[in-house]
Amino acid sequence: MSNEHEYLLGDSDHETDRLRRQARLWDPVTHALFDRVGVGEGWRVLEIGPGAGSMHMELRRRVSGPVDAVEQSPAFSRSLVAQTKQDGFGAGRIWTEKLLDVELPSNTYDFIFLRWVFLFLHDPVAHLRKLKDALKPGGKIAIQDYYRDTMALVPLPPAWDAFKAADRAFFATQDAHANIGAELPRHFLEVGLDIMEIRPEIKTGHPGDDVWKWATDYYLGVLDQYAQLPPLNAALAAEIRAAWLAAQENPASLLIAPAVLDVVGRKT
Ligand SMILES: C[S@@+](CC[C@H](N)C(=O)[O-])C[C@H]1O[C@@H](n2cnc3c(N)ncnc32)[C@H](O)[C@@H]1O
Repeated sequence: MSNEHEYLLGDSDHETDRLRRQARLWDPVTHALFDRVGVGEGWRVLEIGPGAGSMHMELRRRVSGPVDAVEQSPAFSRSLVAQTKQDGFGAGRIWTEKLLDVELPSNTYDFIFLRWVFLFLHDPVAHLRKLKDALKPGGKIAIQDYYRDTMALVPLPPAWDAFKAADRAFFATQDAHANIGAELPRHFLEVGLDIMEIRPEIKTGHPGDDVWKWATDYYLGVLDQYAQLPPLNAALAAEIRAAWLAAQENPASLLIAPAVLDVVGRKT
């Protein structure tokens, strides 16, 4: 069992709402990824960690049929089942367990998709091996995940390095990896997946726009938790909050968000 590793962000109403707003900003990037992969009618598809579910519904539209999913949160799973009753494409199989605890069928899927899931997983190689086994020969896997070290607030607050270290430490509390996007290509090669694409998307924003609101909502929301993670502490976290709110008053301020890397591989 993999229960000793807890999912860090939970499934509260507030988190569900945050995921929905985040999805509105990022779904077009994922649609373009699905276009490049060529996801089409009749494909057998598995999504891991669909969360609030916007990409799950998009995948169902693209294959014109059901899509399977592994979603460890009972609340997200229930909501997914309710959503999938609305579009007439039929019921996919939904496992409400952690991925490592699921017995996936071997050599079954044309496409496996994960967005913002791998950064929460310990032992990424074990997870990848499991997913590779579930792919058909020739099947593709696409993972969208962060290389968070691109994150910057401009003007740069003095405590920024400690803040970024706390961001990495937050994921490390569950043996997970804030910069997993940049590590995935190495892991793909380790498990014998061919790499087809590594594509970055870095969003930037000014106060008041959607990118600013998205990143600010997340980071100021978790700042009190981050303040417990050295080298950040309560005083430095208060400095970061003050600098962030001051920057927000100046339309020229710039937020460079964590990069999201699309990493696409194929099973030979
Ligand atoms: C940050 S959310 C991303 C949700 C969605 N993919 C999106 O793009 O909005 C991470 C999702 O992965 C799920 N998750 C995390 N760890 C998991 C695991 N070990 N097995 C299955 N699902 C997991 C969470 O419950 C949550 O739905």
